[in-house]
Amino acid sequence: MTDRPYEQAILEESYDEVPYQSYPFNQTHPIHLFTFAKLLGLNPPPVETARILEIGCSSGGNIIPMACHFPNAKLVGFDLSKVEISKGLEQITDLKLTNIELRHQSILDFNQDEGQFDYIICHGVYSWVDAAIRDKILQIYRDNLAKNGIGYISYNTYPGWNMVNILRDLMIWRTQKTQNQWIKIKQGRSTLKFFADGLKEDHTPYAEFFRGETELLSKQMDSYIAHEHLSYYNEPCYFYEFNAELAKHNLAYLGDAFLANMYIDILPAHFSQHLTETEDFVEIEQTIDFIRNQRFRCSLICHPGPKIDRTPKNKKIDDFYLQYVADNDKPNLSFDDIGKVGEINFYNALSNLKVRNPTSQLAMLILMEEKAKPLHFNDLCQKIVERSSFNNIAAVKHHLNDDLNLMLAAFAGLINLSSYPGDFTLAIANKPIACKLSRYQAQKDNYVTNRLHQTVALDAVAKTILPFLDGKHEIQDLAHIARSQLDVDALNLLDEDKHLLTDEDLIKQRVEQACREALEIIAKQALLINP
Ligand SMILES: C[S@@+](CC[C@H](N)C(=O)[O-])C[C@H]1O[C@@H](n2cnc3c(N)ncnc32)[C@H](O)[C@@H]1O
Repeated sequence: MTDRPYEQAILEESYDEVPYQSYPFNQTHPIHLFTFAKLLGLNPPPVETARILEIGCSSGGNIIPMACHFPNAKLVGFDLSKVEISKGLEQITDLKLTNIELRHQSILDFNQDEGQFDYIICHGVYSWVDAAIRDKILQIYRDNLAKNGIGYISYNTYPGWNMVNILRDLMIWRTQKTQNQWIKIKQGRSTLKFFADGLKEDHTPYAEFFRGETELLSKQMDSYIAHEHLSYYNEPCYFYEFNAELAKHNLAYLGDAFLANMYIDILPAHFSQHLTETEDFVEIEQTIDFIRNQRFRCSLICHPGPKIDRTPKNKKIDDFYLQYVADNDKPNLSFDDIGKVGEINFYNALSNLKVRNPTSQLAMLILMEEKAKPLHFNDLCQKIVERSSFNNIAAVKHHLNDDLNLMLAAFAGLINLSSYPGDFTLAIANKPIACKLSRYQAQKDNYVTNRLHQTVALDAVAKTILPFLDGKHEIQDLAHIARSQLDVDALNLLDEDKHLLTDEDLIKQRVEQACREALEIIAKQALLINP
């Protein structure tokens, strides 16, 4: 490493002392970047064989799963914290991965000669370093992003952080004399609690905000508090400022990693009518940030040149796999309800979609049923043909485009789009196989990364049997393992009077049942693969 300025040394020490918990972030995954780039009219490189770089990768919780899922891709991650990188290297050795390199390295030392990367990811770093390093991050994108490559950068934003900074400033001020970070975190938490408790009877907007934020932060991990609210750097910017920086580095803004953040038709009509008249995307998105008091952004970037259309206009749903990610207002909605329950409202925090037509309701229900596995639009239409009076796919497509525009539903964030089918199975084989990474992670933690690049939590039975889902164990073997490792509560081996069961057949049945139920959950969590 080069001689580091004082500020970098502080950062390195702080991440070594309180390492950042490293997780997968679905919106950073090259499959997601590929899909969005395609949708917005670009021609991104295929992910399977891509060269992928992650800047500030911590211990690799985001990049290591990518290396596992794409053995023919080549991945490089680096981070300033030696402690975090050593943790990641240990996992790479244990998993015998040969397509990924993790390095203890500063952003300032990254060399232009490293060559071109198809995808460059930098999550949770840009706002948390000084101006010189922010500059260098954008230089890396300019110099090392392949011609058709796609970049991802996330950062804290104003106006949202204007308000959150009140809590940060308070915590920093009240803990300024404390050196030890762990004590600082404790003191920061109790400072917030002290103020929130004191404001309990106060119903001013300020007090309501303060209590709400304190409640949110109380659920966050220590490492988040340390590196967000108590961090040495936390420099949010306005979206228009970020764009000016991109332009300065001869880079272009592609879009937000969440479609709904750019979609003006889901705003109150007062705003959407006004914004329809403007063509300037910076004005549109900055206005949206003011409407929503946005505090964080995940931006996709590319080299300047391609024509980018960020609206749903002229976009065909036919090329995509669809995944239902909404809620609905009819509890326990089932196929029997179709056409009988009137309008069904599908919604999320930002928007909703009211569906009355029975065929359109059927489409949403099929997607809901398949929730765990993205379904290709053509397969959805085929399933509708099988369950309705429509007798050909073309007629179904025509109907859906007229009555239920799934592209608009995707822009509203009610449905996820993907260019790739999930490479996992919902079927539970006689000797099931879980992906190698999740088997490994289950031996160490209560949560694992699934094939959709999400963190999923495991209960005691799932955690116990997951490492043994290697295609060599049947349900009886798994039950035997579970019984030898788990207590009676986890396996439901007590009778109604809380006495231990004595009938050996009944015990066997119960343990196997517990394992079957765990397997069903594991399958729905997108952890099983085909041989
Ligand atoms: C808030 S954490 C985010 C980690 C990870 N990207 C994530 O989102 O989980 C910021 C990371 O940036 C790293 N970092 C800070 N300054 C750096 C620098 N100059 N060079 C490389 N990494 C740096 C830290 O060590 C830390 O792991």
